[in-house]
Amino acid sequence: MHLPVRPRRNRQSPAIRDLVRETDLNPGHLIYPLFFQEGTENTPIASMPGCTRWSLDGLVKEAGEAHALGVPAVVLFPRIPDELKTRDAAACAADDGLVPRAIRALKKAHPSLAVITDVALDPYNSDGHDGLVSDDGRILNDETVAVLQQQALCHARAGADIVAPSDMMDGRVAAIRSALDEAGFEAVSIMSYTAKYASAYYGPFRGALDSAPRAGDKKTYQMDPANAREALREAALDEAEGADILMVKPAGPYLDIITRLRDATPLPIAAYQVSGEYLMIKSAVAAGWLDEAKIVHESLIGIRRAGADMILTYFAKQWSAAWHAAR
Ligand code: PBG
Repeated sequence: MHLPVRPRRNRQSPAIRDLVRETDLNPGHLIYPLFFQEGTENTPIASMPGCTRWSLDGLVKEAGEAHALGVPAVVLFPRIPDELKTRDAAACAADDGLVPRAIRALKKAHPSLAVITDVALDPYNSDGHDGLVSDDGRILNDETVAVLQQQALCHARAGADIVAPSDMMDGRVAAIRSALDEAGFEAVSIMSYTAKYASAYYGPFRGALDSAPRAGDKKTYQMDPANAREALREAALDEAEGADILMVKPAGPYLDIITRLRDATPLPIAAYQVSGEYLMIKSAVAAGWLDEAKIVHESLIGIRRAGADMILTYFAKQWSAAWHAAR
């Protein structure tokens, strides 16, 4: 055949494939979500095989191991004891709470690790929603934002580097930004869950924290999976309100949203490979149907290729260890 153009020439050896590879993935792109609880037990999480709800000591150790592998940041998810859950979620802003204690312990043990906190009421709310719930079952936007401000300030006082509002209330980024700035925390960043969809992929996470909504669903605040233009609207708002990083969540089923945000904003884009994405891979691997190391790598490189600068993934430590071993 007379074929002057042969794309296979660029795939013919590992060396040439290295040269032409368009997308890079290294531990520095990853953020490690970690679950933790009161007490001294490290509890395996039934709904997320391979994940653990750590004690504070276990949390510090696990974060340190990931950081030593080059993972720059962790994001914290507490399991709050039932007796501290109330309808006003007041425990979310207590300076002696589980999250501020975890932040202080992590920053003391690993000063160069960036600590990111989740700002939302669901772990503290007896109603299980990210926002306050009225007596007639509505999610109260503006009242919730006032509580989120207090929660973000509490995390900043404890030394959080980045606060990450995952609640999807309107106006919360601007409100948190001004509360932080007024209190002298202008160096604390905001990673906004900009396009967070009302997704069935969060199921295993809610099992890990016993944080499922008591009644109803999250569709009046999280986005409809059918919508893409609406993500651009949320992105424009978050950018104008002062967000430093925009997030898309889930990641794998929403790669088009990552790409559209990448094209629409100069801000860094984060993508969250959520618990259901993790569990789907783990289940298929446990059944012997998929090669774990290869499928994890491919799932992450796909998210990077779509345009994510950073990925929140429960595979952060495992993938980073494999990356070092292959060197
Ligand atoms: C709650 C929150 C959720 C996740 C992160 N923060 C669950 C939800 O919105 O119901 C999900 C993460 C995952 O599934 O891995 N604010």
